[in-house]
Amino acid sequence: MNSLLARKSVSDIVGTADPRVPKVLGAVSIVAMGIGAIIGAGIFVLTGTVAALNAGPAIVISFVLAAIACGFVGLCYAELSALLPVSGSTYTYTYATLGELAAWVIGWDLILEYAMGSAAVAVGWSGYFNNLLGMAGLSLPARFAAATGQAVVLADGTGVTAIANLPAAAIVLLITVLLVGGTKESVRLNNIMVALKLTVIVAFIGLGAFYVQSTNWQPFIPENTGTFGSFGASGIMRGASIVFFTYIGFDAVSNCAQEAKRPQRDMPIGILGALGIATVLYIAVAAVLTGLVPYPQLNVPDPVAKGVRVIGYEWFSLFIELGALVGITTCILVLLYGQSRILATMANDGLMPPVVGRLHPRLGTPWISQITLGVVVATAAAVAPMDALDELVGVGTLFAFILVCTAVIYLRAIDPEVHRPFRVPYVPWVPLLGILSCLSLMSGLSPASWLRLVGWLAIGLVIYFTYSRHHSRLGRRHPTA
Ligand code: ALA
Repeated sequence: MNSLLARKSVSDIVGTADPRVPKVLGAVSIVAMGIGAIIGAGIFVLTGTVAALNAGPAIVISFVLAAIACGFVGLCYAELSALLPVSGSTYTYTYATLGELAAWVIGWDLILEYAMGSAAVAVGWSGYFNNLLGMAGLSLPARFAAATGQAVVLADGTGVTAIANLPAAAIVLLITVLLVGGTKESVRLNNIMVALKLTVIVAFIGLGAFYVQSTNWQPFIPENTGTFGSFGASGIMRGASIVFFTYIGFDAVSNCAQEAKRPQRDMPIGILGALGIATVLYIAVAAVLTGLVPYPQLNVPDPVAKGVRVIGYEWFSLFIELGALVGITTCILVLLYGQSRILATMANDGLMPPVVGRLHPRLGTPWISQITLGVVVATAAAVAPMDALDELVGVGTLFAFILVCTAVIYLRAIDPEVHRPFRVPYVPWVPLLGILSCLSLMSGLSPASWLRLVGWLAIGLVIYFTYSRHHSRLGRRHPTA
């Protein structure tokens, strides 16, 4: 029983950081990594559906509510990643606080956020890719452009059943090759793509603002239709639970801590900076979009492009489609990067087979886990539809966030003296507010998602008790812990 609660000390964790990992990331790169991870398919897809079905123009308030929850959690991540600047993120923080079993559970849970999250985003990428091909007068056979088993209606009205989403799988494999090649190269390309994505979004806001019709914002909060979550206050809440997906990724920044040049200063800047920039952009995009198009018309797969068509510049819609494609690419890159680092950290702790943590002798990247992961995620992206993946990602992430807030409170209580380069203000109140806001966002998700989370965690527990527990490094070092 004691071994399940065995926890690593802060000095243990910092002391076991692999010195061979190159320190190449500065503050700007870390903020860019954060924005790369945060702004993905969500803003380009969910803004329209949530405005049309849940919140109307008050989707702006949904974005603010989700941002407040992420802000509380982001402060907790900033404290922990500056204190424990090593790979592994939430998993590592949990190991230092709640012990090995909880750390395993969270490491396993994070696979939902990162691996399934990148699969979901790759599916979104494929949608924009197919749109762009269409604009160029080209098209892939419909059977190979959607999730396995999905019914696709062709231009001539006939229907086919899709075999696999090949573009989604292809982009995952391409990014995997890039990540295996080296962190520095990936970060450089990521910075360029993030700059392009920001340009497109800022251009949409700047140009769109001139064409806003303020009558489209009335009523700002449409009356509830009688169903929970369909407009009114409950619609705003349900909207916040859904648009939470658009903020997922800020926590991925904490995975770069070990590769940061000055983690103590740059991790808080990276996490909170990326979150702040994304929040401002999201609110502005939502306000402009609902000002351009009457909200009931926004339930389309490419709402931002629809907003652009209202403005009437054809070249600009091509620009937006391209920017969306690039933006979504960076999101996949950072999520896959984060997942491989978490798996490698778990392997170094003995909870996963050692081969998962092995670094490439020349490239310095965890190549075996990166490639295995790429193949698994590419398969998921090829066979599963986006909506099936989205809610699962949301529930898994919120569960991880709750544990991070708990870890801050617990570590302050048991290790009050350790030097914290960044401190969350008003502990325990801010972490407690983080926990409460995550719980309220979770309550907006469907019971099926909760069940899937429980099923996934049950599989994880079986693996822990049959393999990980017997191979744990900490367990072997302190057999009576
Ligand atoms: N935040 C990411 C997105 O919006 C997952 O696609």
